[in-house]
Amino acid sequence: MRMYDIIKKKRDGGELSTDEINYFVENYTNGKIPDYQISALLMAIYLNKMNKRETLDLTKAMVYSGDIVDLSKINGLKVDKHSTGGVGDTTTIVLGPMVAACGVPFVKMSGRGLGHTGGTLDKLESIKDFRVELSTEEFINNTNDINISICSQTANITPADKKLYALRDVTATVENISLIASSIMSKKLAIESDAIILDVKVGSGAFMKNLDDAINLGKEMVEIGTGYGRETIALVTNMDEPLGNAIGNALEVKEAIDVLKGNGPDDLHELCIKLGSILLLLAKRVKNEDEAKFLLEETIRNRSAYEKFIELVKYQDGDINYVKNPELLPKANYIIEVKSKDEGYVKALNAEEIGKCALALGAGRETMDSKIDLSAGIILNKKVDDKVEIGDILAYIHANNIDKAKEVEKKIKEIFIIGDKNKESKKLIYGIITKDEVEIF
Ligand code: URA
Ligand code: CA
Repeated sequence: MRMYDIIKKKRDGGELSTDEINYFVENYTNGKIPDYQISALLMAIYLNKMNKRETLDLTKAMVYSGDIVDLSKINGLKVDKHSTGGVGDTTTIVLGPMVAACGVPFVKMSGRGLGHTGGTLDKLESIKDFRVELSTEEFINNTNDINISICSQTANITPADKKLYALRDVTATVENISLIASSIMSKKLAIESDAIILDVKVGSGAFMKNLDDAINLGKEMVEIGTGYGRETIALVTNMDEPLGNAIGNALEVKEAIDVLKGNGPDDLHELCIKLGSILLLLAKRVKNEDEAKFLLEETIRNRSAYEKFIELVKYQDGDINYVKNPELLPKANYIIEVKSKDEGYVKALNAEEIGKCALALGAGRETMDSKIDLSAGIILNKKVDDKVEIGDILAYIHANNIDKAKEVEKKIKEIFIIGDKNKESKKLIYGIITKDEVEIF
């Protein structure tokens, strides 16, 4: 087989065979095919697209390029969750303990934050001594003991995706649905859970800026998961504004604890209930969604989800006093109030721009090597559709650098668009995608 012929076939609009896909993935991963040929192929795929069969074959080839995390030693049907990335998205830290408290094993290998989006591992490291690196054996044993484990990817998972993603990033070939879907799903499928819920974000802070693209991405990912033999469902949810009120690592852990105790922001709570109810259904823990919602709400009311989070922290060597008393979490030296100079209603609150402000304060990473300030971030005091009077506090900036905080204060005033009430009130969940249908609410 010749790489030249594979590039030419795709350039001319042809369909690549399973063998051809396996050939280029395998030989690119082991260094036998140079970047320039794969760059040309990626551009041909970007322009001429791949069909469902090709996309599934590409995903499988990437899964098999590295280690597969065998979780068959975990008892019961185990569930996994993935978000396509957002701002202030604290769901994993709330959802995991809720689902685990219902008796369903929650297995999650998470990532770190990059750019304007945060990462669960960084957030959890705000808790003193919390260990995100677990061996596969610990991951399995912990889950069997307490139904939950959240750790980094220690195994060599999907090396083909790592190389391809890095190349796509510099060749303007990221934004292709087949390439994004196969990239995300290969990483999920290499970890052998029984069911996956995908939270496809749409809006200013997300990869997908419009609903049609988000639905198409969700459909493609559900098809890949299902085609691979894994129960997969996707929700399409709002990332036009940040989720919850807190953006920043320690601030989001505090927010997660608030939700687990029943005091957190409604949107974060509602999203976790919806994601959780699908997971309980997929794990066959309940017969219908009402029963699932009742059980999940019960874990908040009776504090079992909160207790589960403490158990998780204990099992991963974290100091549980940081959960019991969130005042101990890293704290910024300055807290600055951002006040409104206008009155009316919040019309928009661009999530990506808020994410960039948090990044500028040190809450995020510019590159994979940057160090982050766990205490820095933003607490939103107003969100889209809220009424605002002149002088009302829009947000609080938590910072250790006063000059940066002043710059961010100016920016936040510009990011809040205040005016007449929006004609339609905002939506949190736009729709659900299963293997059989797309339902838009
Ligand atoms: N996230 C991924 O992991 N891969 C993509 O291609 C895009 C987003
Ligand atoms: Ca949040």
